[in-house]
Amino acid sequence: MIEEMKALEKYAEEYNIPIIEKSSLRFIQKYIKENNVKTILEIGSAIGYSAINMALVDEGISITTIEKDDYRYLEALKNIKTFHLEDRITLLLADALNIDIDGKFDLIFIDAAKGQYKNYFEKYCNKLNRNGTIISDNISFHGLVESKEKIEKKNLRKLVDKIKDYIEFIKGHDGFITKFYKVGDGLSVSTRKNE
Ligand SMILES: C[S@@+](CC[C@H](N)C(=O)[O-])C[C@H]1O[C@@H](n2cnc3c(N)ncnc32)[C@H](O)[C@@H]1O
Repeated sequence: MIEEMKALEKYAEEYNIPIIEKSSLRFIQKYIKENNVKTILEIGSAIGYSAINMALVDEGISITTIEKDDYRYLEALKNIKTFHLEDRITLLLADALNIDIDGKFDLIFIDAAKGQYKNYFEKYCNKLNRNGTIISDNISFHGLVESKEKIEKKNLRKLVDKIKDYIEFIKGHDGFITKFYKVGDGLSVSTRKNE
């Protein structure tokens, strides 16, 4: 399956599909292994690259992943079949903010619209199991969160402000302990406190 994985990466590059950086992926795979994560909810599937790679960590893992773009959804569906993971990856075509998901998860991976992270967190944090964790990608947004003054475009500045708000929100959240990692494009790991 190494060739198939390479083909997926090549496709993403050719068609400008944003997929997770390798170092972040390795970090999450290690987290999944070390914490015995078995159920995952992913917000933002794109073409299925991260979902497939998370599922490949262990045969006992099952994933629900949500993608709102029709075209990417169809690509993801095809790729999940190529890796014979259709039994373990449930792919949903929907806006994650307009859908209700059944069940509880050990891990929620947020990797969709950067301006909506707080909304995803608030909507889905009650879907975590005990000791469950929310990992969010692109917390440093190509380094722009640390150097906002360099940004000329107003829309981009607004987006960076939203990511900063999200960082403050998770830092101050009573129900979670959050750690930040300078890996890839920046990851946050928010683990639920169990009272
Ligand atoms: C960065 S890509 C996901 C990459 C993927 N996790 C990977 O690493 O292979 C973000 C995806 O989220 C999707 N998206 C954005 N907002 C969404 C929403 N509200 N609900 C579902 N999907 C959304 C976009 O269409 C895009 O394909």
